[in-house]
Amino acid sequence: MISYQSNLNNINQDMLEGFFVGWKKPISKKNHFQILQNSQYKVLAIDNETQKVIGFINALSDKTHFAFIPMLEVLPEYQNQGIGTKLMEILLNELKPITNIDLTCDQPLQSFYKRFKMLESHGMVIRKYLN
Ligand SMILES: CC(C)(COP(=O)(O)OP(=O)(O)OC[C@H]1O[C@@H](n2cnc3c(N)ncnc32)[C@H](O)[C@@H]1OP(=O)(O)O)[C@@H](O)C(=O)NCCC(=O)NCCS
Repeated sequence: MISYQSNLNNINQDMLEGFFVGWKKPISKKNHFQILQNSQYKVLAIDNETQKVIGFINALSDKTHFAFIPMLEVLPEYQNQGIGTKLMEILLNELKPITNIDLTCDQPLQSFYKRFKMLESHGMVIRKYLN
């Protein structure tokens, strides 16, 4: 069974394995745990049988007007089972009072995010790993 939680209770960095698939420089488990600690909002999906985190989403926010969702990822072997959708739904419910919710994604993923009533937008970014 998969359970969902919006905190890091009973979670340690060793439960965060296998994420950042295809990244040039994958984030270490230590840094991943730190990122989740420092994010005002996070939702984790946990496989109760293995006690591993199998999906996560996080958000940074001024808690009034803006929230930004930097990352959403479900481990490859757990994808296409509705887990990413559930993580988004739980997070968006927690972000209900916030007026603007932004994220960046590759174009093919826009159809996934449109199901949460997100609108296409334009943006600018800095990516230091490209240098
Ligand atoms: C995107 C992601 C989080 C979706 O999680 P998931 O648990 O597989 O999603 P769900 O099972 O809830 O929904 C699956 C739907 O998402 C779509 N989807 C998943 N990845 C997609 C992609 N890269 N491009 C387009 N659509 C995608 C599937 O086609 C499927 O559509 P369908 O319901 O019409 O068949 C997951 O594929 C993932 O972790 N991908 C790698 C990391 C990533 O790209 N994260 C997003 C960063 S912006």
